Amino acid sequence: MNIEEIKKNIEEDISSVISLNVLNEIKTKYLGKNGVITSLQLRIKEIPAEEKKEYGIMLNDIKGFFNDLFEKTRTKLLEEEVNRKLKDDAIDITLPGEGIISGSIHPFSRIIEEISDLFASMGYDVVDGNEIETDEYCFKRLNVPDGHPARDAQDTFYIDEEFLLRSQTSTQQAHAMEDNSEKTPIRIICPGKVYRRDEDATHSHQFGQVEGLVIDKNVSLADLKGTLEIFAKKLLGENTKVRFRPSYFPFTEPSVEVDLSCFKCGGKGCNLCKQTGFIEVLGAGMVHPNVLKMGGYDPDVYTGFAFGTGLDRLAMFKYNIPDIRYLYTNDIRMLKQFDRKGEE
Ligand code: DAH
Repeated sequence: MNIEEIKKNIEEDISSVISLNVLNEIKTKYLGKNGVITSLQLRIKEIPAEEKKEYGIMLNDIKGFFNDLFEKTRTKLLEEEVNRKLKDDAIDITLPGEGIISGSIHPFSRIIEEISDLFASMGYDVVDGNEIETDEYCFKRLNVPDGHPARDAQDTFYIDEEFLLRSQTSTQQAHAMEDNSEKTPIRIICPGKVYRRDEDATHSHQFGQVEGLVIDKNVSLADLKGTLEIFAKKLLGENTKVRFRPSYFPFTEPSVEVDLSCFKCGGKGCNLCKQTGFIEVLGAGMVHPNVLKMGGYDPDVYTGFAFGTGLDRLAMFKYNIPDIRYLYTNDIRMLKQFDRKGEE
């Protein structure tokens, strides 16, 4: 047995190994059942007794040599493999991220939020109300007598004899008064959807309104004007002017129509305001004594004001939306402009 030659072979075999699999094959070649070193071990039986010791030492030397080299190479290959994995799986943190696609708040919801916040800051409660109503709350308790054209089936969606889709958020006036069993002062707004049977290029069968109602002692028309002035200025800008014109609504006396200075030209006159400098925006007035009475309030003690306005037009003014149909067609290109990026 030539130890040096065997060692040389082992060295040659192991040094050329580039993978753990091949390294294991080499282990089999030397230490397997028919392996080179195993065969040498088996041959010990044939060795004369006086040479056995020396033979054993040589065998151990070869085995040690193999094991040392095998372990070193195995460790080296394992390290290489780990490094390769780390490199392959590395995350390039300089790559741009995917970004989060965020939704947006519909301008209709947004105007409701803004108006609600504004009135809440003045001490108003924001109430919801039902979209399905009865004739009694939609008309009768608002002093709209039988036979009034507003009750006509041509104008209102009736569900059956009793129920209808509310045609105005003023319905909430009657509920607020009735629900307040102590008959204490009331300060509410009610934003929401209303329904009417007209639909053409400028009207939709469903649109938004917000109703306001204040009942207290000594409430006057001046309070109404002051309140609406704050509302208009806060919502549409400090330079907005408010103008009252006498009008008629069954549930208010006196009644007014409220114009705001044109948001487009600032009051100078343009095609939007038909050169008048003003745009009609609200209906309002002092709550009619009949309405107070039906709600359980003594009109000799309490007075109140009410106002109602269309949310669609306000949203168009506020967000510069040129066509009412944009509010209902949910064109994603339009809606995306209402996300809250950069707002907070
Ligand atoms: N409900 C009315 C409408 O739909 C608007 C309105 C006018 C509301 C006068 C009021 C009011 O509260 O006092 O046209």
